[in-house]
Amino acid sequence: MTVAIIAGASSGLGYEYAKLADQEQIDEIIIIARRSEKLAELASHLRHKVKIMVLDLTASVSFAEIKKYLETSGADVKYLFNCAGFGYLGKSFDMKDEQCERMVNLNSLAAVKLTNTVIPFMSEGARIINVSSCAGLLPLPYLSLYAATKSFLVSYSQSLNFELKSKNITVSAVCPSWIKDTDFILERSGNSRVQQPVLIFPTYKKTVASKSFRKAKKGKVIITPDFISTLIRYAAALLPTWLILKIAGIFTCG
Ligand SMILES: NC(=O)c1ccc[n+]([C@@H]2O[C@H](COP(=O)([O-])OP(=O)(O)OC[C@H]3O[C@@H](n4cnc5c(N)ncnc54)[C@H](OP(=O)(O)O)[C@@H]3O)[C@@H](O)[C@H]2O)c1
Repeated sequence: MTVAIIAGASSGLGYEYAKLADQEQIDEIIIIARRSEKLAELASHLRHKVKIMVLDLTASVSFAEIKKYLETSGADVKYLFNCAGFGYLGKSFDMKDEQCERMVNLNSLAAVKLTNTVIPFMSEGARIINVSSCAGLLPLPYLSLYAATKSFLVSYSQSLNFELKSKNITVSAVCPSWIKDTDFILERSGNSRVQQPVLIFPTYKKTVASKSFRKAKKGKVIITPDFISTLIRYAAALLPTWLILKIAGIFTCG
């Protein structure tokens, strides 16, 4: 049974990737998040058979449950989308230990654990899509820990892609800039000042998801799906770190 798995499918990019996976030739879509009502609503819009898994990906037991389901269903996973994540805008030393732990656990470690759980159920031609951020391409004051967790995903995706070459499985890190219409920017990043560039060059979840999925299917490893993220990618490669910090700080601190 061929399968697509979307972690963080209840809203935002994950929700859009689920709709794109629905257009692929697969047998089942597994959607994962904590909000069951949102997952049920998504499932009602999909044509494929859907398996809803209401799980908290910061809990280790979740991965055992996913593994058990993949074993019993005889899954051949064609696509894995690691989308679950959240941000925090502000001084990183103002974050509580519990917040820091949750962020590292969800944004970085959960993607690794889910990927390790799923790889044994993948065959040639499978695609792993890790949603990082353009924040993962450079150090970012006032989004320090978030940027570090996303930088982890960029590095991890690049080297895992190399390791999986012999199996013909590709790994992509999707690095969008701020997206105008997700819960992340509306509710979960803690502050709205960073929306300024978004207002000048708005990016929408539907466009980011479709562009990045198209590129991931072609095997592209680092994907900057919009104008600002592409600009940031080149700036990060060309400018000295002190200047990057200064410019980035203007946008994140205001
Ligand atoms: N929006 C942006 O501007 C932007 C830009 C660059 C990168 N990104 C990245 O894109 C990814 C998707 O974010 P989004 O913009 O689509 O935001 P979103 O709408 O807030 O989506 C986040 C998803 O993660 C899930 N999630 C959160 N905590 C979870 C947990 N403990 N266990 C399982 N699932 C959990 C949420 O579902 P539940 O709450 O139902 O669990 C939701 O489905 C994130 O990794 C984010 O860092 C976003």
